[in-house]
Amino acid sequence: MALRNVLTVDKENDSLRKKSREVEKIDEKILTLIEDMKETLYDKNGVGLAAPQIGVLKRVIVIDIGEGPIVLINPVIAYQKGEIVDVEGCLSVPGVWGTVKRPQEVIVRGMNEKGETVELSGEGLLAKAFCHEIDHLNGIIYTDKVIDYIDQSQIQQEG
Ligand code: NI
Repeated sequence: MALRNVLTVDKENDSLRKKSREVEKIDEKILTLIEDMKETLYDKNGVGLAAPQIGVLKRVIVIDIGEGPIVLINPVIAYQKGEIVDVEGCLSVPGVWGTVKRPQEVIVRGMNEKGETVELSGEGLLAKAFCHEIDHLNGIIYTDKVIDYIDQSQIQQEG
């Protein structure tokens, strides 16, 4: 395993703005990518990380809201319900936080590391993390959707 460098918007990294490609085969390379993403996420104390944030344009996300790692390959939002405005940050936009409107509840479909189709439901923080990370796979950064920027440097959650 290896720590990867997290790309940030201030360094004009095109990878953050490109649409990532679907993973067609779960091979050693993808499994190594996933392990590296987990290690990098925990090193940065983040809530979530998407592969394009480390310069790999593949549809892979890793999330941990404090309940253990969730890995999703080729994730899509299959269902969403409600609306909630909450604060977000992003490891690719360090030191900035802002409020974003997201669904209150989502069901996400994708593949796990074994190639099995899985459906996961999430509410609140987890729903927010799913939406934030899936946006990264489409070149969207949460700042594109910010309602208001906030000045609360004590907020630590970044995805
Ligand atoms: Ni992010």
